[in-house]
Amino acid sequence: MRASVLGSVCALLLLLREPVCRGDEVTSSTVNPCCYFPCQHWGVCVRYGEDKYECDCTRTGFYGENCTVPEFWTRVSQFLKPGPNVVHYILTHFHWLWDIINSTFLRDILMRLVLTVRSNLIPTPPTFNSKYGYLSWESYYNLSYYTRLLPPVPEDCPTPIGVKGQSGLPDPELLVDTLLKRRTFRADPQGSNLMFAFFAQHFTHQFFKTFNRMGLGYTKALSHGVDAGHVYGDNLERQLQLRLHKDGKLKYQLIDGEMYPPSVAEASVRMSYPPGVPVHQQMAIGQEVFGLLPGLGMYATLWLREHNRVCDILKAEHPTWDDEQLFQTTRLIIIGETIRIVIEEYVQQLSGYLLQLKFDPTLLFNSHFQYGNRIALEFSQLYHWHPLMPDSFLINGDELSYTQFLFNTSVLTHYGVEKLVDAFSRQPAGQIGGGHNINAVVTKVAVGAIKESRQLRMQPFNEYRKRFNLKPYTSFSQFTDNEEIARTLEEYYGDIDAVEFYPGLMLEKTRPGAIFGESMVEMGAPFSLKGLLGNPICSPDYWKPSTFGGKVGFDIVNSATLKKLVCLNTRTCPYVAFRVPTEEKSQQEKDGINVRTDEL
Ligand code: HEM
Ligand SMILES: *[C@@H]1O[C@H](CO)[C@@H](O)[C@H](O)[C@H]1NC(C)=O
Ligand SMILES: *[C@@H]1O[C@H](CO)[C@@H](O)[C@H](O)[C@H]1NC(C)=O
Ligand SMILES: *[C@@H]1O[C@H](CO)[C@@H](O)[C@H](O)[C@H]1NC(C)=O
Ligand SMILES: *[C@@H]1O[C@H](CO)[C@@H](O)[C@H](O)[C@H]1NC(C)=O
Repeated sequence: MRASVLGSVCALLLLLREPVCRGDEVTSSTVNPCCYFPCQHWGVCVRYGEDKYECDCTRTGFYGENCTVPEFWTRVSQFLKPGPNVVHYILTHFHWLWDIINSTFLRDILMRLVLTVRSNLIPTPPTFNSKYGYLSWESYYNLSYYTRLLPPVPEDCPTPIGVKGQSGLPDPELLVDTLLKRRTFRADPQGSNLMFAFFAQHFTHQFFKTFNRMGLGYTKALSHGVDAGHVYGDNLERQLQLRLHKDGKLKYQLIDGEMYPPSVAEASVRMSYPPGVPVHQQMAIGQEVFGLLPGLGMYATLWLREHNRVCDILKAEHPTWDDEQLFQTTRLIIIGETIRIVIEEYVQQLSGYLLQLKFDPTLLFNSHFQYGNRIALEFSQLYHWHPLMPDSFLINGDELSYTQFLFNTSVLTHYGVEKLVDAFSRQPAGQIGGGHNINAVVTKVAVGAIKESRQLRMQPFNEYRKRFNLKPYTSFSQFTDNEEIARTLEEYYGDIDAVEFYPGLMLEKTRPGAIFGESMVEMGAPFSLKGLLGNPICSPDYWKPSTFGGKVGFDIVNSATLKKLVCLNTRTCPYVAFRVPTEEKSQQEKDGINVRTDEL
């Protein structure tokens, strides 16, 4: 006991570069050996006694003290498996090849491969959470926690991220200020627009709802997936307030003859607005924070209209159905439409793949895919895509600053859905990776994310690289080719193995012409696809016409597009896409700045 206390003091002093302990090894007799993250390839570190550990290498395909020695078949598949950058290169080049593949059975085969390879990286049932770094019933059963792929860094380690790096981590404000804050706007080279950016925020905030009042690492969104809780509320009481209780519909208000979410005076739910906004000006939406941005209000309006439109269609088909059945069935259709749009348009845009992605749950019916999903803390961290946000918002010839845009309850109804869709579809979003691209208005959110990850003791970036079968970076210059970023990071962290998860994702060199780097794709895609296909509606007992009210409803799910979501719910059909129109993109590339032509 005393030896270990002395040892830790020595280890600490050593880290503070005190000469007393020099030459005195930080041996495993003084430090929790699991702080070294000795177990490779998903091996589980178990501590024995004070200073011993064992790696449980069961079913990892490796053996040996640290699960480092590959079994025969592991060696074979390691040899045959192409690296992620090679696969990505093929998926984003060779148009002629993909033109053939897209229209043959190979499309299905590759789509199935994408889904299974990605999903296999995510454990079902889920494993750890922020309180439990070992398997436990509580961690499995208590849905209030975000799950975690890697356990927290043990409390008794010499440094905040184990044994690497310095005893302190760089000041988060400084980190964000010098490396993440925007200098000049850099557009996403893949051409994503604000329609994409607000979709990202709107869609993900149904399952990222950190429950700050309960503490870090908890979520309010207990269904852990795509449940359209951002439309219907995350609990029954809220849902009942938002419903019209007639024909399955949601409450609404008409403004200039157009349908919008009801005011809080009409549907009494709590919305987050700054103090002083009167209830008749607050819109009542499933997600309580969606009053923040007109872009979120716009999507809320579109899904509200879509819900009520589908209710009419179902009612015509099933005049005997009561309000409840119309509502519940429509909700499943809305979830199905969402998943289709996300995979076939949103993920398609984000990935830049030339393989035409396909939402078809039957692709997985003969594989060992596990249905179910649990939202992970790591997923929430990596989705902090605030660099997408521009410096101002260009709508119908006006330029709105953040002060004019945020919480402004009149923007949505003043311009109307068509004008906003058109404007957001034409304005480029920022590049997410590569650093120096977060508008100053939202840099504090990035600071918050870094602070959260420290309090919850997230493992460093390189450990996550390994968890997703990527090689850990060995130097700062390999991590990024931006010398300034490499130098600054080295000064802050000292060791590439000490770089934290979120800064690592945001600052890693981007792939050529891409919105972010390798790690964001290789870590984000598994969470995303698992969450989409793990939805109950994708399982064999649900995925059939009767679930969606028959052929008519199933057809709505199977033919949903972003364009239909907009244009079946507006009078005129604006330009609507997840990428800027091509002429404007090339214009903007030529000028190197964020230009917008005003011809509509
Ligand atoms: C001007 C636009 C935006 C503003 C003002 C904004 C602001 C915020 C704020 C205040 C938080 C809460 C931070 C905290 O509690 O510590 C947050 C969280 C978050 N934001 Fe944004 N954000 C914006 C755009 C976006 C976009 C485009 C995305 C893209 C996906 C995004 C993704 C997230 C995520 C994933 C979280 C964590 C949510 C949670 O865990 O509950 N945000 N944002
Ligand atoms: C296993 O990992 C520990 C800690 O990182 C290291 O000291 C030891 O040499 C490793 N053992 C083998 C066989 O590689
Ligand atoms: C194949 O799909 C990609 C992505 O959707 C698209 O860019 C390409 O034009 C498609 N080719 C054919 C022949 O459908
Ligand atoms: C989940 O865990 C939290 C924190 O320990 C606790 O407050 C909460 O009551 C638990 N929820 C359930 C349903 O047991
Ligand atoms: C709110 O938006 C309108 C445009 O719809 C704008 O004219 C007004 O200045 C904004 N309000 C504030 C307080 O910025």
